Amino acid sequence: MATNPFNTIELEKVQSYWNARPCNIRHSPSPVGTRQYFDEVEARKYFVEPHIPLFAEFEKWRGKKVLEIGCGLGTDTISFARAGAQVTAVDLSTESLALAKKRAEVFGLDNITFHQANAEQLSDYVPVERYDLVYSFGVIHHTPHPERVIEQIHRYMDRDSTFKIMVYHRNSWKVFWMLLKYGRKKGETLDELIARYSEAETGCPVTYSYTAETVKAFLKGFDIIDTRIDHIFPYSIPEYKNYEYKKVWYFRYLPHALFRWMEQRWGWHLCVTARLA
Ligand SMILES: C[S@@+](CC[C@H](N)C(=O)[O-])C[C@H]1O[C@@H](n2cnc3c(N)ncnc32)[C@H](O)[C@@H]1O
Repeated sequence: MATNPFNTIELEKVQSYWNARPCNIRHSPSPVGTRQYFDEVEARKYFVEPHIPLFAEFEKWRGKKVLEIGCGLGTDTISFARAGAQVTAVDLSTESLALAKKRAEVFGLDNITFHQANAEQLSDYVPVERYDLVYSFGVIHHTPHPERVIEQIHRYMDRDSTFKIMVYHRNSWKVFWMLLKYGRKKGETLDELIARYSEAETGCPVTYSYTAETVKAFLKGFDIIDTRIDHIFPYSIPEYKNYEYKKVWYFRYLPHALFRWMEQRWGWHLCVTARLA
């Protein structure tokens, strides 16, 4: 059995990585922390990842309790709160959390409680109570022991609660692209290559990835209700960094229907909706 390159990584390393560059922090060129900045971060995120609102179904959780694990800058957190949910949001990164809190303040939202927390030991930080929705988008695969987070999540759900999670999809265009563009260094495993290039900033300390099959074993104790694969990033990166959306040549001429067909098979986001078994 292959050794796990991530479960000996110290959590401090994970925290430092996300503090140095909170996820999506460069989604806007405006001064960080302003209303305009947050509006632009949101617009870019949902423009590039339009499947997120469809998956999260923000409006559905009006008047309900939502626990978000790994809120980052709080784009989805704000969307849940605006839709009228009572939100509890946690993140390991103090820098990300500070911006998410600022964002709630800027938009005058008082229905969010923030906690700086390691989700592997969630109950040490967040009182154990039932939530209608536990939501985690692109987070649990970045912690050294994701199975511990899953165990914790059980405690915040009952049989009527819903769990929505996005983890990275191993059998994806993005992994194929990493192999083609960079290839594996001598002695490097595929997991290590994926971690090296999974994020905007190279060298993420921990990035696990799953298939539609392996995610079933990962979500022990859950019944999977829905699995959707989505998201291929089609833009040329130098232009994207300048806030221009020019597709790379091989996607520019691809019919939209064919591109969507590819996204739903080889997308980077494995979005799963589950309930307690
Ligand atoms: C790729 S970002 C996703 C953020 C947000 N969900 C989004 O979609 O923009 C991953 C986030 O996971 C957080 N994270 C990683 N390990 C964590 C842990 N053990 N406990 C809580 N948060 C963690 C990081 O701090 C980071 O903000």
